[in-house]
Amino acid sequence: MEKHQTAASNENEEKEPFPLIDGIRWVPEWGLESLYFALSYQARADDLFIVTYPRSGTTWMQNIVYNLQTGGQPFDADRDHFFEQNPTLELDGELGIEIMQRPGAIKTHLPMDRVSNHPLAKYICVIRNPKDVCVSYYVFYNMLGEVPKLEFDQFFQYFIDGRLLLNDYFEVLRSTWQRRNEDNVLLVSYEDMRTDLRSVICKVANFINIVLSDELLEQVMQHSSFDYMKDKFDAERRMFEAKIIENTEDKIAAAQRREKFIAESEMKIVRKGEINDWKSFMTPEQSRRIYDRFMATCKNCEGLENYWSKWNIF
Ligand code: A3P
Repeated sequence: MEKHQTAASNENEEKEPFPLIDGIRWVPEWGLESLYFALSYQARADDLFIVTYPRSGTTWMQNIVYNLQTGGQPFDADRDHFFEQNPTLELDGELGIEIMQRPGAIKTHLPMDRVSNHPLAKYICVIRNPKDVCVSYYVFYNMLGEVPKLEFDQFFQYFIDGRLLLNDYFEVLRSTWQRRNEDNVLLVSYEDMRTDLRSVICKVANFINIVLSDELLEQVMQHSSFDYMKDKFDAERRMFEAKIIENTEDKIAAAQRREKFIAESEMKIVRKGEINDWKSFMTPEQSRRIYDRFMATCKNCEGLENYWSKWNIF
């Protein structure tokens, strides 16, 4: 496939907010090398991936896994270690994987069907209901540097049309759901984590072969709690980023990163942490349109139609 492929060859092409690059909607300023590296990455037998659509609880899962792998150590005990154990495949690229401290977990927002599948590698997929993802993504998106700011209605339309950065939520959900019963895949939802974190931690520990004592379970509960993470995670993330900028020898790359860093000074990964926050953003009409789009794409995904019914999403 030709690498530089634009979204659509119609007259609206110039209005596409995010070009399709090798099938992935991307911000070119973020760099193409790391994206191509991610798309051609061959998984190793000892790889553990955390595969999610943005704003689905990725960071939360990273923390749970990290706590489990380190015997309960919180991310802020050794921030460099945390971030070096948890590279983002499509952003950190080859260097991120090269310096990755293992065991660890490779985070990616690539759709499951674009992530290299090794029979011995493991894949933790976190899904979240489309309405809360849409709202959380909207708030987050507007705190990103290098992207045009969007009003909610416009963002919503892109979400429904599957034209947002990092692809179509509904297609990604469908491709993830289809893999949920494979031996090396663990699928959990944000809603499960929010409702019964203890059970999710047990499932994750079992999946990655960590013996879970009562003491370790309590530590993971505490260090991955909303209050703990809200208090510290974004501050630690920024300090790590500042250090990377300081150590970047290439002056142009350092200046670009610094500009992004300043533009994103208000960015918060850990925000509200609620189920059904969409109710304060969406009109009934928008809520219905999400359901219609969900059904149009996912109607043949057995069990998915009612998956979120106990949380009254639809
Ligand atoms: P909200 O914006 O709805 O608050 P990701 O890491 O994939 O970007 O997901 C971010 C979402 O997960 C945000 O949702 C964030 O607040 C929520 N989150 C992060 N840590 C959490 C925690 N410990 N408990 C509950 N929600 C958490």
